[in-house]
Amino acid sequence: DSSANGTASSIDVVRKKLLGYVGFANLPNQVHRKSVKKGFEFTAMVVGESGLGKSTLVNTLFNTALYPPKENTEPSNETVQTVEIQSITSDIEENGVKLRLTVVDTPGFGDFVNNEESWKPILDDIESRFDAYLEQENRVNRRKMVDNRIHACIYFIMATGHALKPLDIEFMRRLHTRVNLIPVIAKADTLTEEEVVAFKQRILADIQHHKIQIYQAPTYEYDDEETMAENKEIMSKIPFAVVGSDKEVEINGRRVRGRSYPWGLIEVDNEDHCDFVKLRQMLIRTHMEELKEFTNNILYENYRTEKLQAMGIQQDPSVFKEVNPVQKMEEERMAHEQKLSKMEAEMKTVFQAKVQEKEAKLKQSEEELYARHKEMKEALDRQRLELEEKRRRLESGRPMTPEKSKKKGFSFNK
Ligand code: GTP
Repeated sequence: DSSANGTASSIDVVRKKLLGYVGFANLPNQVHRKSVKKGFEFTAMVVGESGLGKSTLVNTLFNTALYPPKENTEPSNETVQTVEIQSITSDIEENGVKLRLTVVDTPGFGDFVNNEESWKPILDDIESRFDAYLEQENRVNRRKMVDNRIHACIYFIMATGHALKPLDIEFMRRLHTRVNLIPVIAKADTLTEEEVVAFKQRILADIQHHKIQIYQAPTYEYDDEETMAENKEIMSKIPFAVVGSDKEVEINGRRVRGRSYPWGLIEVDNEDHCDFVKLRQMLIRTHMEELKEFTNNILYENYRTEKLQAMGIQQDPSVFKEVNPVQKMEEERMAHEQKLSKMEAEMKTVFQAKVQEKEAKLKQSEEELYARHKEMKEALDRQRLELEEKRRRLESGRPMTPEKSKKKGFSFNK
């Protein structure tokens, strides 16, 4: 009958949703293939006083001579009194996966007699990259968006073993809302193990005291225990005590990247010797996408909001009748998003109502079926008892008394 058919098909629908293979499990592969084809992009900035080993560390991190060996030039030119911004882009490939890596260097930072405003050209550069992205977003044709935003800023702290310098504090204070700050202790091989531990604590205390927000990896509920433990381990090493070296040294027949001293050898890639491995793991293996997402979703989004608000305040409605195009587009986008979420909510309600209706129907027919089943079972039980009784009588050889058979017949008819 039609209700039975309806029931059967609704069971099918529900089962397919829960158990059937639709194919969307392949989505990650699609994304993966597309990303591999497109390649990945990452832009990192290095900031720190001259000679702290920035170029060496970048070369060590990406295992390429991104920075050519330096000629013996004087570090700072007396006539140049500003921090420069230099960027090097390189396409690197590993197992067929392409990475377009851009490293932005800031020579001159902290090298002058007066370094009070050393942070300013760097902040300006970071913000102008946000502006360039904002400008592209507001274009009609958004197909070819170029993302030159800085995804991470590795800040080199001199291994003094004391505390952060006013220059470090000022830089981080000015920049922390605009970029993912990753502080590192440069040339950590110049400190003893105990000195590193104490210095790290002092740096973290200073950072907390000045309410500086350094990069923190987010934790997700869906992360498995292993991932959470790994994240915790990485975060516990910040500020990373790093050692860089692009030269190989031989030890017990092995060739390792390191720095040799009269008292022994510091291996760059040995976690017992320094935190270089952890920094590389975070930047490249585990958090590259997170750093990009945080830059886009939080840092850039905040900048954009501030900028739009500032524009709104400057605008006096009695003077300017025209609408600000940036604001208008933003409003339109929000209205569109609202419309979409309203439609989605409506669809959800309809869907839920349908599911409930089907469920009620199913329940009803289930009850009917059950009642029928019960009835039939009872009739069968009765029949079985009577047959057994009959057999007993037959086996004992005694014919049934007329009263009894009458009674039987009576109960049978009943
Ligand atoms: P600028 O380009 O002037 O800003 O310098 P930089 O910060 O890029 O430093 P660079 O990598 O050129 O290194 C400066 C010197 O420090 C070189 O002689 C390196 O060999 C040395 N150096 C680099 N990393 C380390 C390190 O981790 N430990 C020690 N002890 N020396 C290092």
